[in-house]
Amino acid sequence: MASKPQTKVKDVDRMAANRVDNGFYGQDILSVSQFDRDKLDFIFSVGEEMRMLVERFGSADLLQGKILANLFYEPSTRTSSSFMAAMLRLGGQVIPINNVQYSSVTKGESLPDTVRTLESYSDVIVIRHPDVGSAAIAAHYSSKPIINAGDGVGEHPTQALLDLFTISEALGTIGGLKIAMVGDLKFGRTVHSLTKLLVNYPVEFVFVSPEILRMPKDVLDVVNSTGHTYQETEDVHDSISDVDVLYVTRVQKERFTDLAVYEEVKDHYVVDPALMSKAKERMIVMHPLPRINEISYAIDNDPRAAYFDQMRNGMYIRMALLAAVLGKA
Ligand code: NCD
Repeated sequence: MASKPQTKVKDVDRMAANRVDNGFYGQDILSVSQFDRDKLDFIFSVGEEMRMLVERFGSADLLQGKILANLFYEPSTRTSSSFMAAMLRLGGQVIPINNVQYSSVTKGESLPDTVRTLESYSDVIVIRHPDVGSAAIAAHYSSKPIINAGDGVGEHPTQALLDLFTISEALGTIGGLKIAMVGDLKFGRTVHSLTKLLVNYPVEFVFVSPEILRMPKDVLDVVNSTGHTYQETEDVHDSISDVDVLYVTRVQKERFTDLAVYEEVKDHYVVDPALMSKAKERMIVMHPLPRINEISYAIDNDPRAAYFDQMRNGMYIRMALLAAVLGKA
């Protein structure tokens, strides 16, 4: 897949302008469609360096003097704290706005004005917001790079990157794998982004969901248009025996207008020892977390459980992205 033409370089460290050839310098990270195989390889190799850096030294001063504004209009544990940890471990500082109810947003301030405010104080802005397209709107108004940390049911590109990194690490390859995504494929932004990223590789998809939570057409169109095959089913038992990756998702309660419908589908799939006894010996179970009841705690010590690795990898990948957009990778 051809790389998208680079958009205008945003206002980051002018001294680092000679680093622009990484393809990320001064860029927003809004969607996985910005990534091709070369860019993925680059971010993954920097992510690997970041892991070694943290393991050996704990932190570095690569982003010393830089400030990240972490703007979260929706709840978050892992994404917000891993971005913060990533910035701190690279020697930068963070303005954390995790409780927008205590910011001027509650007074009715618009997203453009909030973004204009934060760009005056920071070098890069991470944003999570309930509306699809909100990160793109923020990017339109910001002269500093914007990183999308989840725009409603739209995308969650940094999660998809850490997911792909985890698959490649755990299974040693991505091409040739059979990947089943299970649960809320309609509202789950992580599976939207991950599917659109995986089409860069020769993989096979199985989409497992209740009828009302099927993968949206625009995502299926990407799968089709890139020549990939997929299967849709309601029964996880249909495919468990030959999948390499079982990517489980939470039913996204907050996106339902009728909570009675949520109650009907919420515990549709539970990964437990009985199900895992039918899975291959070499495969992985993933989940972006938080889990509610989708994966039994009895699986946590199964060597195939990769969800805590995903969580750890998130910080390395976000360190790589921050360093890359700020021209230091
Ligand atoms: C996911 C999200 O926010 O989309 N969480 C995360 O970032 N790890 C998944 C979810 O909330 O179910």
